[in-house]
Amino acid sequence: MLSTTITIYEISHQGKLLRKQVHSVPGFAFIHDFAITPNYCIFFQNPVQFNPIPYLLGLSGAGECINFQPEKPTKIIVIPRGEKGKIQYFEMPLGFVFHHANAYEQEDTLFVDSICYESLPQVRPNEDYRETDFSALDPGQLWRFSLGLTTGKVERQKIESRCCEFPALHPNYVGRPYRYLYLGAAHDAEGNAPLQAILKLDLNTNQRQLWSAAPAGFVSEPIFVPRKNAITEDDGWVLTVVYNSENHRSEIVILDSRDLSKGAIARLYLKHHIPYGLHGTFVPC
Ligand SMILES: [Fe+2]
Repeated sequence: MLSTTITIYEISHQGKLLRKQVHSVPGFAFIHDFAITPNYCIFFQNPVQFNPIPYLLGLSGAGECINFQPEKPTKIIVIPRGEKGKIQYFEMPLGFVFHHANAYEQEDTLFVDSICYESLPQVRPNEDYRETDFSALDPGQLWRFSLGLTTGKVERQKIESRCCEFPALHPNYVGRPYRYLYLGAAHDAEGNAPLQAILKLDLNTNQRQLWSAAPAGFVSEPIFVPRKNAITEDDGWVLTVVYNSENHRSEIVILDSRDLSKGAIARLYLKHHIPYGLHGTFVPC
C-alpha cells in the first residue's frame, strides 16, 4: 500500500539541527501546511487520491492527477515532538485544508484552527482561469478542531463563515493560546469571492473588524508586524500587497492592527503591479 514519509526537522534560532524525526504514514498525503504546539506537530491528511501515471507520461499536469474524495474523512495526524509518545490519528469528514491558523494545548485537548473548503475544485486541462466562476466554488471558512488526546475524540466548530484565507497572527503566539487573527477575506459576508478585504477576529469576544479594498482592490496575505515592546497582542501593523485593478498597479497597504476601521494609515504606491502571490514574511533589520 502507498505510504507517505513525513520528516520533521527542528532547528534552533542559530540554525543548529536540534532533532530530526522520520515517520511513515499510510496512504498518499497531500500536505500543504502543518500546525505546531510545544509538544506536538499536527498534520491534516486530506482525502485525495493521486494517480501519477498521466503526469509521468507527460499527458497531464501533477495537479490534474489529484482527485478529491469528498465521501472520505480527513485524517488528522498528531506526532509528539519529544522522543517518547506514539503518533495519534483522528478522523473527521471536513473537506479540504490548505492552511492552518494556529494550534495550542489545554490540558489533554489540542485545539487546531484551520481554513476548510467543503470541496476542492478539480484542475482541468484547457480551462481558462480568467473564466472562473467564483460563486460556484465553496468558500474557505475558519473552523476550530478540538482533539481529545485521552478520549481519541475530535469535534469541530465553525468560527468564521465569511470566505477567508491566509490566516496570520503575532509570531510569539504560534502554538500557544491566542486572541487575534488576521485574514484575507471576501468583501461580502456570504458566498465565495476573491479576497478583497482584511478581517481581524477577536477570538475571545467574537468581535470582528473589516477593512475592504473593494471594488477595485484585491488583497494578498496579511502580514502582522508586532510593535517593539508592545504589551497587547494586537499592538502593531498589518501589511498587505493590494492589486489595484483600476490602474493595473500594486500598492502596499499598512493598517493599524488594533483598529482596522481607521483605514490605511500608509500606502506605498508602486509604478507597476506585483503578480498575485501567495505567501510573504516580515523580518526586522
Ligand atoms: Fe500556502
